[in-house]
Amino acid sequence: MNTPVYPVRWQNDRVLLIDQNRLPNEYTYVEIDLVRDMAEAISTMIVRGAPAIGVAAAYGMYLGAKEIQTTDRDEFLEQLTEIGKTLRATRPTAVNLFWAIDRMEATARQCVGSVAEIIPQLLIAAQQINSDDIATCQAIGEHGLAVLPSSPNKLCLLTHCNAGALATAGYGTALGVVRSAWTQGRLARLYADETRPRLQGAKLTSWECVQEGIPVTVIADSMAAHCMKQGLIDAVVVGADRIAANGDTANKIGTYSLALVAKAHNIPFFVAAPRSTIDFSLPDGSGIPIEERHPAEIYQIGETIVCPPGVEFYNPAFDVTPANLIQAIITEFGAFPPAEIIDLKNR
Ligand code: MRU
Repeated sequence: MNTPVYPVRWQNDRVLLIDQNRLPNEYTYVEIDLVRDMAEAISTMIVRGAPAIGVAAAYGMYLGAKEIQTTDRDEFLEQLTEIGKTLRATRPTAVNLFWAIDRMEATARQCVGSVAEIIPQLLIAAQQINSDDIATCQAIGEHGLAVLPSSPNKLCLLTHCNAGALATAGYGTALGVVRSAWTQGRLARLYADETRPRLQGAKLTSWECVQEGIPVTVIADSMAAHCMKQGLIDAVVVGADRIAANGDTANKIGTYSLALVAKAHNIPFFVAAPRSTIDFSLPDGSGIPIEERHPAEIYQIGETIVCPPGVEFYNPAFDVTPANLIQAIITEFGAFPPAEIIDLKNR
């Protein structure tokens, strides 16, 4: 099977979200037609991945706009800001969420017409964010090919979490690079970290690969250094949730340790992300807010409690990889050393 995966779709006046909490065992959709349900879907990770939650939030803004009762323009804009606040409160780290909401609010403000005229403009804007993201990911995939190690042999890549079609509007960022390499005949195999605690690698990345016949090997996170030492990995490619202006990169917890072990083994480490993931307001990664999630993600596996009573937990969902561990950041505008991404500010 090679059917494109679209985690967020606008259909029959409502949003269809692939329920990512049920994959890989069930491929089902959740229908969303209220903004409060969209906020819930983002916080419970029915939809997840930085660009995908941006797209979902954009549609959420439109759904919320339709729920506003007033025809007074100023009152409408005020209520839309409140809706934006609800959506902004869902997940703190991925900047694409905030970028998309900002863009939707700007669309509403810039539309000079009545409330009845603003609302359809918001749907157009959300659909634009959706379709732009697919084109952006395809461009990232292409640019990634230029920086992957050149070798007469096919490459083995390692990734962490899921930065695939499921995490974007479609195609993926890190997995976009993997897809392009596969299509061009340059990929032998993808190694996918399982990605504790929520297992996005084991459940989602592996599922996407299987759909397309891309050879994939899932490893426990703790096996990456050993695999590198054995010469199994040619390069690491990961996604990003927020990149500071100096290239420091927040991504799924465990990415930082992967970058460190890649450096120790002289293996190139790449970040693939759209420009909308760069937060130019932050000079470095120290200001990136790190989401902490419920400890049950650690102490419970399926229905089973795996820790004894009396234990304390710490569950940060992301970490920050310093720019000096990153060989290049692959964007839709090309691949750049981290120090040069600041040049994208005015693109
Ligand atoms: O907590 P998640 O599953 O939303 O985290 C996702 C990641 O960390 C991805 O690597 C990142 O959002 C990039 S998605 C193209």
